[in-house]
Amino acid sequence: MEFVTQLGELRDRRAALPGAVGLVPTMGALHQGHAALVEQARRECAHVVVTIFVNPLQFGPSEDFTRYPRRMEEDRELLEGLGVDIVFAPEATEMFPQPPDIIVEPAALGRYFEGDRRPGHFRGVATVVLKLLNAVQPEHAYFGQKDAQQLAIIQRLAFDLNIATKIHACATVREADGLALSSRNVYLSETERHAAPNLVAALREVVTRLGEGESDVTRVLAGARQRLAPLREDYLGVVDPAKFEPLRTAPPGTTLVAIGAAFAGATRLIDNLTVQTPAEREMVKR
Ligand code: PAF
Repeated sequence: MEFVTQLGELRDRRAALPGAVGLVPTMGALHQGHAALVEQARRECAHVVVTIFVNPLQFGPSEDFTRYPRRMEEDRELLEGLGVDIVFAPEATEMFPQPPDIIVEPAALGRYFEGDRRPGHFRGVATVVLKLLNAVQPEHAYFGQKDAQQLAIIQRLAFDLNIATKIHACATVREADGLALSSRNVYLSETERHAAPNLVAALREVVTRLGEGESDVTRVLAGARQRLAPLREDYLGVVDPAKFEPLRTAPPGTTLVAIGAAFAGATRLIDNLTVQTPAEREMVKR
């Protein structure tokens, strides 16, 4: 496994790889969710490149950029064991030698939910992902479904900007009690960790009720909200995954996504589940 920190060297080493390249962009502090992305890339591509870069552009001024877990030695060991070809781990000055003048700004897809709660976040994500795709020129790139809105924006970025890389959506990996794996879970105290699965419990209730044919999203969310305590809600919503706008009514026969963010103490958790609404004749009319 090559460990590279400079863009020029990355380009040279990537150019020397024969066959399809799969890219897994990460911010490090790797867990089994990242390992699953790498394993999928390994199965589907001749070569795998993983990037580790805690991107300052996607953190707000009051967010956890300086605190974000950094575990380069453990990450390298894990990636070596997974058969990764190249790890690209640049310093911020390599990726952003100057504050960028040209940035990628998602519009409608980044308006609500994460985009509303974290102003500038998706601009930072889209800009860095475009830079990483340009640097690595992969045939395939792998992203987790846990960050559903990010994934929708990256898929749209590839479409709108004529990027040839195929974007793959990979299933969320969960703990036995349902908590979605996240690098930020290390922040949780024992009590917070115990409460953290309440977020997925609330989302499961949304999935069940919409799946049973209830169409009033506002009422369904009000019921699901009861499951969150002691977590503090940031938002709960139901969206069409191609739009990421809050829905008040669930249309029949549609694939939707129930999304949520909640605080366990100071730690912000996000999660989502896909829901299929039944055909019109099975919808509950109240
Ligand atoms: O999901 C992440 O880890 C980051 O947002 C990403 C895609 C690596 C961009 O910094």
